[in-house]
Amino acid sequence: MAIAEMVDNAIQAEAETVEISVSETQREQHPLNISISDDGHGMDPTDLGRALSFGGSSRFNDRLSLGRYGMGLPNASLSQARRVDVFSWRDGKAHHCYLDLDEVAEERGQTLPAVVPIDSPPPLQGRDSGTHVELSRCDRLEYKRTSTIASKLGAELGRIFRQYIATGTSIWVNGELVEPLDHLFQSTPTGATQFGETLTYQLSGPSGFGVVEVRFTELPVLLWHRLAEAEKRRLGITGAPLVSVVRAGREVDRGWFLMGRKRRENYDDWWRCEIRFDPTLDELFGITHTKQQISPSPELRVAIEPDLESVARALNQRVRRHFEMAKSSTPLITAERTASRVKGSLPPLPNCTYGTAGAEIRRTAGPLLSDPDGAFQLCLAELSTTALYEFEFYAGTLTLFLNVRHPVLRDLFRPLALSDQLSDRAHATKLVLVLLAAARAEVRCGNDEILRSFRQEWSDVTSTFLNA
Ligand SMILES: Nc1ncnc2c1ncn2[C@@H]1O[C@H](COP(=O)(O)OP(=O)(O)O)[C@@H](O)[C@H]1O
Ligand SMILES: [Mg+2]
Repeated sequence: MAIAEMVDNAIQAEAETVEISVSETQREQHPLNISISDDGHGMDPTDLGRALSFGGSSRFNDRLSLGRYGMGLPNASLSQARRVDVFSWRDGKAHHCYLDLDEVAEERGQTLPAVVPIDSPPPLQGRDSGTHVELSRCDRLEYKRTSTIASKLGAELGRIFRQYIATGTSIWVNGELVEPLDHLFQSTPTGATQFGETLTYQLSGPSGFGVVEVRFTELPVLLWHRLAEAEKRRLGITGAPLVSVVRAGREVDRGWFLMGRKRRENYDDWWRCEIRFDPTLDELFGITHTKQQISPSPELRVAIEPDLESVARALNQRVRRHFEMAKSSTPLITAERTASRVKGSLPPLPNCTYGTAGAEIRRTAGPLLSDPDGAFQLCLAELSTTALYEFEFYAGTLTLFLNVRHPVLRDLFRPLALSDQLSDRAHATKLVLVLLAAARAEVRCGNDEILRSFRQEWSDVTSTFLNA
């Protein structure tokens, strides 16, 4: 959170690049240092002096963007380190200023930090202006290893600043570019899909009007339910906070918020919600100066909770239904095994990558499916097309997405798959093997437009026949 404060300041200074470095020094006590460099507009000596005094802000109570109270820089720094140095460059002139807790304790330090001109190169080479904040003698860090701190930082910052990263700000931690981490799991085709329209509210608080936008997504239960428990946890599917609250494009809190009387249940692991609001509505969200927490006001709750609660209940029902459907996936696993067992006697597949489900799909689905090294993967999916199946062929694995909405799946496969009779379940397996063979033939014959339209026609006419 402290580093996020520094990134806030960099972004607000219009930085395009923020470089964070976590390093270990030779010091015996508190060896860790963390620095944050940006290529923003920097500070003049007056601003620099003010920046390190508590409550010193060039934008006090301003609601345009990230900062507001001027508590960020000194507070955040000294919450982690015994000393903070700030260097800032602008118009070819550089200045330095610092706060040192140990000097203050020995009463050697001045009450107000002194700003002195310096001549050293800017932190980001080739940039005319910028700021470099160096936290030294970090004494409050939870972790001891620089690599651990760097990877935790990268993941957190990727999530907190996802919107800024997506629109062009680059953040680096120890030389690695931070990837945006999408709370809503929407960044890939096999990920989550938005549920319903975006809800928009025009609200007014003591500081004026502002907009609240709420989005819900549902995770692909049918694709991901087969993952091992530990894997689901590692990927942040289960046990993760569901509601992310985003102020001025930056995440300020996550947890279980504004869902009325609905309590969180296990099924609720499978959807996400993102609430975005304007800083003019800070009072309604009960945001504090640390920007780490919200505490929704009664007015806000009255305005949006009833809607959010009913969407949450609807999503919970849908997840339940998807888990019911997922129960019919056992024959798929049997079919995968059967197909893999005989794959040696099948005509060879070309050495290429393609599919109708989008080139991205396999790469993301890969680690999410049960057997990433298998030659065949079968999954149920709610496809956006009316096709009976879509597939992806990548790195030698054929992944088949069977459309649970199609009557072949709905009326033939499903009753067989859920039957008490072993022989019915064996027929379900054989049925999907027929479809797998068709997809495999498509791969062999080339990823052809004619084949695709054949499949679409065949799917649609089959639907009509079976629905008749
Ligand atoms: N990286 C930076 N680049 C330019 N100016 C900065 C930077 N960091 C801090 N400042 C200046 O220092 C002031 C104090 O920062 P801070 O304590 O975080 O308060 P706030 O962001 O709420 O204004 C800011 O208002 C800004 O003028
Ligand atoms: Mg700030």
